[in-house]
Amino acid sequence: MTLCPEFSLKELDIEALTSVEGHLAILLDQEGRLGKIDRRINKVTRGLLARLCESKEFSQKKSGDVISFPVPMGLGATMLHVVIADRKASAADMRKFGVSLAKARGTHDITVALGSPKHSDELVKGLLLRSYDYNGHRSGEDKTVGSVTLFHARPETVSDEIETAKAIADGVYFTRDLTNDPANVLTTTEFANRLHAMQELGLEVEVLEEDKLAELGMGALLCVGQGSDSPSKVVVMKWNGGGDEAPFALVGKGVVFDTGGISLKPAAGMEDMTMDMGGAGVVSGVMMTLAKRKAKANVVGLVGLVENMPSGNATRPGDIVTSMKGDTIEVLNTDAEGRLVLCDVLWYAQQRFQPTAMINLATLTGAIIIGLGHENAGVFSNDDTLCNDLLSAAKSQNEGAWRMPLSDAYDQMLKSRKADMKNIGGRDAGSITAAQFLKRFVNDDTPWAHIDIAGVAQVKKDTAHAPAGATGWGVMTLDKLIADKFEA
Ligand code: BES
Ligand code: MN
Ligand code: ZN
Repeated sequence: MTLCPEFSLKELDIEALTSVEGHLAILLDQEGRLGKIDRRINKVTRGLLARLCESKEFSQKKSGDVISFPVPMGLGATMLHVVIADRKASAADMRKFGVSLAKARGTHDITVALGSPKHSDELVKGLLLRSYDYNGHRSGEDKTVGSVTLFHARPETVSDEIETAKAIADGVYFTRDLTNDPANVLTTTEFANRLHAMQELGLEVEVLEEDKLAELGMGALLCVGQGSDSPSKVVVMKWNGGGDEAPFALVGKGVVFDTGGISLKPAAGMEDMTMDMGGAGVVSGVMMTLAKRKAKANVVGLVGLVENMPSGNATRPGDIVTSMKGDTIEVLNTDAEGRLVLCDVLWYAQQRFQPTAMINLATLTGAIIIGLGHENAGVFSNDDTLCNDLLSAAKSQNEGAWRMPLSDAYDQMLKSRKADMKNIGGRDAGSITAAQFLKRFVNDDTPWAHIDIAGVAQVKKDTAHAPAGATGWGVMTLDKLIADKFEA
């Protein structure tokens, strides 16, 4: 498990600034006006900040730039980070400041000294999110993550928000670890065990095993995992923080490894398919965040956990399977497996919970990467209100999302000569036909959105909040959507 830096919130003590060890960070007004904290630092450093403000360098800096002074005179800190800050820094600005500080501190302990600016929780969020460094599997490496301390003039006024920021960071770390872990570590059983362990947080967690899934008639989901030695599972996580109302449902694709099955993928880049459980990872991370921040909402998270492997027992192209809904599916390509997993879990979620709305997340198609690259997830929805709420939540969290179309003409592309539908629609509009496939398993009166996160779940370059690798895209967006929809 990748550790989130230990965090503490303390009341600002101006006198104590000089004895802070490790790295110390302050925000300095872009206009060069020194506040209380700055004046104290300026004094013990014999005018460092006043001179800085008069310098040409300072006049060329913009809000968000960090100037770092090693072993500053008069301070116990080994490094002083001065963040040039606009007085009216927005939530997004504050988050960026936190991200910059995370990069500047590396793994050193850091104390950030603030008065009582707005959005200090966002600064903490940025700092914690960007401090993630996957605790991988290189031997002999002893990873230290350092601690984060916030000095705040009025800690009691921000402690709730800061708790929420921490809960979000924990959820994102959980998602990133699940997504980064290789498939021999994160088997379907290990995944289910980690989710089961979240009962400690007050979540109700149920693991449905293969015999139960067969009894429910989940022929589509089961046909994906039948070539693997790892058993297929569906995990149901319930958070009941609201009243008696029906829950909001989140559904995730959890293919722990996608070889393509008998329609085998090419070797080059196949290792990326360790992240094919990214949708299930996001659902799991959101459930953790909701539990940790004790959200006042009823939310149920369901994940379909399978491994798509070729074997003597694997599903063949041409096989026809029956879904839980009762519709038959001609499996023309065993690599279009995500939709087979999701269709049964979506149907089950509706039958069992009659959710007020349902959102599924999946690394569903390579085609969405062709369309949107790694900047935006593709959003498909049968409900404008839900979709717009989702898009604005994503925007507020700086997570890219873009709506894609659905229509009957695309649905026609799934017609099969032998069964109710086939599982692929051809090369054209590959992401849309995948979405149309899912839509066939959603009741018309259930507001629903499908988010194709194939391009954003894992990336090869650093992003705004994450180092290269798993991003945890969507945990913040969905948490915000739930907060706005049910707790505002
Ligand atoms: N897991 C893949 C989609 C994917 C591709 C995710 C690249 C992340 C990065 C999915 O199961 C898949 O194989 N989709 C096929 C569908 C096709 C056979 C209709 C694809 O996109 O090629
Ligand atoms: Mn596939
Ligand atoms: Zn897949």
